[in-house]
Amino acid sequence: MDQVHGLQWERPGLMGQDGPLDHTALARTLAERLPAPGHIRDLFATVPRHRFLPDVVWGENRVRHDRTTDPDGWLHTAYTDQALITQRDDGVEGGRGVPTSSSSAPSVMARMLTAARIEHHHRVLEIGTGTGYNAALLASMVGDDRVTSIEIDPDVAARARRALIEAEFAPTVLTEDGEGRRVGYQPPCDRLIATCTVSRVPDVWLRQIYGRGRIVTPWAPTPGGPGGVLAVLDVNGDRAEGRFEGGLSFMWARGQRQAGHVAPAGSAADTTTRVDGDPRTPWLDGDQALMLSLLMPGWRYGMRMEDGAEEPYVWLASTTCASWARLHADGRIEQAGGRKLVDQADQVRAWWRDRGEPDYTNFGLTVDLVRGTQTVWLREPSWTLWSTKR
Ligand SMILES: C[S@@+](CC[C@H](N)C(=O)[O-])C[C@H]1O[C@@H](n2cnc3c(N)ncnc32)[C@H](O)[C@@H]1O
Repeated sequence: MDQVHGLQWERPGLMGQDGPLDHTALARTLAERLPAPGHIRDLFATVPRHRFLPDVVWGENRVRHDRTTDPDGWLHTAYTDQALITQRDDGVEGGRGVPTSSSSAPSVMARMLTAARIEHHHRVLEIGTGTGYNAALLASMVGDDRVTSIEIDPDVAARARRALIEAEFAPTVLTEDGEGRRVGYQPPCDRLIATCTVSRVPDVWLRQIYGRGRIVTPWAPTPGGPGGVLAVLDVNGDRAEGRFEGGLSFMWARGQRQAGHVAPAGSAADTTTRVDGDPRTPWLDGDQALMLSLLMPGWRYGMRMEDGAEEPYVWLASTTCASWARLHADGRIEQAGGRKLVDQADQVRAWWRDRGEPDYTNFGLTVDLVRGTQTVWLREPSWTLWSTKR
């Protein structure tokens, strides 16, 4: 028997090649390793993650795990601390295999649940139901009737609803765009947890909070840009403000995915300079790239192979104008357009070093609905780094 918030149910049990497999010990071991308070770890020990996963998932390094051919491996994978991709290319066959829905890594989920500081009486709104696993964890914390979860993809939402019912949870799952282009959801909530990345916190998320509350969301400065941070924002009326609690990577909210803005291949540069060493290095380090995007938003990057070259070059493209740059392993830096991205990056990096190389947790975000702004600051909300009109 399993027991979650007083409910008991018989588990159908998984039949493996060697007989029935028991997930409870696996869940307990995973939970014990999570860097989270006891009451959060208990959730992971009791809510069965595998009940929310489809028969085929993709884990680290795109490894495919198939329950039909390898039930033991699939079950063990379900209780590892990795994000498991559950949908690719928005469910359309024949795509490039871009992840579009997943069960997030349990340690990341635990981090977000901890940051949300959920109390038993709170109403919680989740944006991005995915598998329904997080909605089940939330329902275990506050009860089914206090959890609403919104999923934009109708197939994903339908699957999550089924999994939740089969696992004996009953939060409300709505098939909607959680960026709230429609009206808000009733009743208002005390906590909003998004499990997809935004670069613009939607107004409706603040409006959705009843009085004071908290929004916990993956946030990144530029759609399609590098990495992301966990934004923990305290809401008070028309304002949400808080620090970033370290880096994390989530798929983008559908409305904020960004295509385009790629440096052209083969076009002539305005300037070509040369440095000793490999100018690609800081851009290939995820942490450094994320820090640069916090300090200097509005660019995307990628890698491309040049004809005849032995190594790919890194391209940078501005998302605010047509400027671009190419950085080559042999030390060449090509730049074009009015915004010299590499020069700008050198300047902001020097500025950051002069200030003692503050890490992400020194940065924060203010969303102001009255002024219509979103502002990134360093150390104190009054120390504005940059601000965008919403
Ligand atoms: C990382 S998955 C969510 C993981 C999920 N919380 C779980 O426990 O399995 C992100 C989900 O957000 C959904 N999504 C993306 N944009 C959305 C939007 N604007 N509104 C609602 N859901 C969205 C995606 O379809 C995807 O299922």
